[in-house]
Amino acid sequence: MHYIRFLKSPRFVGSGNEKALVAKITVTTDLGESFLAADVGISVDVVAEDGESIIGPGREYVWKGRDGMRSLEVSLLMKKVRKVARIKMVVAAKGDAYVDRFEKVLGIGERGAKNEGGIVTVKSVEIDSSSGHSLGAGLAERVFSSDDRSDPREIHIWEETGESIARHVWDAGLVLSSYIATPRHLKTSPLPRLPLLETSLSQPKLNILELGAGCGIVSITLLHTLSTLSQILLTDLPEASAILTHNLSPAILHHTPSKISHQVLDWSLPLPSNVAATKWDLVFVADCTYNPDVVPDLVATLGRIVEGNGQARVVVAMKLRHESEMVFFGLMEEAGFVVKEKGAVPLPVLCGEDEEIEIFVFGLGGKG
Ligand SMILES: C[S@@+](CC[C@H](N)C(=O)[O-])C[C@H]1O[C@@H](n2cnc3c(N)ncnc32)[C@H](O)[C@@H]1O
Repeated sequence: MHYIRFLKSPRFVGSGNEKALVAKITVTTDLGESFLAADVGISVDVVAEDGESIIGPGREYVWKGRDGMRSLEVSLLMKKVRKVARIKMVVAAKGDAYVDRFEKVLGIGERGAKNEGGIVTVKSVEIDSSSGHSLGAGLAERVFSSDDRSDPREIHIWEETGESIARHVWDAGLVLSSYIATPRHLKTSPLPRLPLLETSLSQPKLNILELGAGCGIVSITLLHTLSTLSQILLTDLPEASAILTHNLSPAILHHTPSKISHQVLDWSLPLPSNVAATKWDLVFVADCTYNPDVVPDLVATLGRIVEGNGQARVVVAMKLRHESEMVFFGLMEEAGFVVKEKGAVPLPVLCGEDEEIEIFVFGLGGKG
């Protein structure tokens, strides 16, 4: 998957008829280690607070990845923008590649077109159209909705625009969220069937814990998807606390926040007492197994969380980037976990080697 990112958030330059909204974007993978190597049309639009375009057709650019492009400056003349108090810049891929729906992440509903890999749309923070002030510097938004018009779910995930690992969306989190949010009947081949995961998610009054939640995409999707929940607790290192507070605020969540909360949980430290005292039904871990140095702490933490709870399920989504990550499985086995179910979701990459996100459902050894 590729993601459009703001290298420089939109800002006004010039004045009078020449006043323009200018930004610098790039198109990279989640790791940010490579830039999109394909030539792709990019549309730049300005929308009002309600999401409606206020510029007519947006301006079009070409991302010249084949020439090794690494960044692209985009601009829109403000005289073409209908006057409203607050505006946002939206940058999306044109054609089949744009991704703003969970079904597109999974390659569903493309009317027979081959899924060659997607590019996730980005939205800027709101900008006061008179003063040019950004309302929330250093942030950008990803919005995911559903193909189904009767499905009102819209999931808003804010990221930080810097390079922090904790504070943007990762492929495994995005794919796991897409898998959870997509109705069972749409998950046809080549998507895996994960009946144990589906059954576990359909249980009433679930207590759900997420480790290494980052921006919170997995738990926020669960909140919007599951109708009967007891609580969801998102955890991560302290550096993720600010973005999680933002993403779980009532204004962003569009949901009563009473069932969802976050707190710091560092795998290298003892469990917080409230976490240790709760019987968790499901523990989610997305894209957290990439660093073999911290995997022993992660596995030890999982062991403490499910200790004595044979019914608990640990759902792990991962993109195997390096063989050294396999250490996770050996450690899980030593800690008494067994794989109850697994499946791989294909993740084609534009102009790159196809990837996949593997989803594992672990439980403690023995039956059940
Ligand atoms: C690659 S990000 C994945 C974020 C999110 N799950 C997603 O898929 O978008 C890995 C996450 O693990 C967290 N993490 C790394 N080491 C940790 C530790 N020792 N304790 C708790 N969280 C940790 C990072 O802060 C980061 O948010």
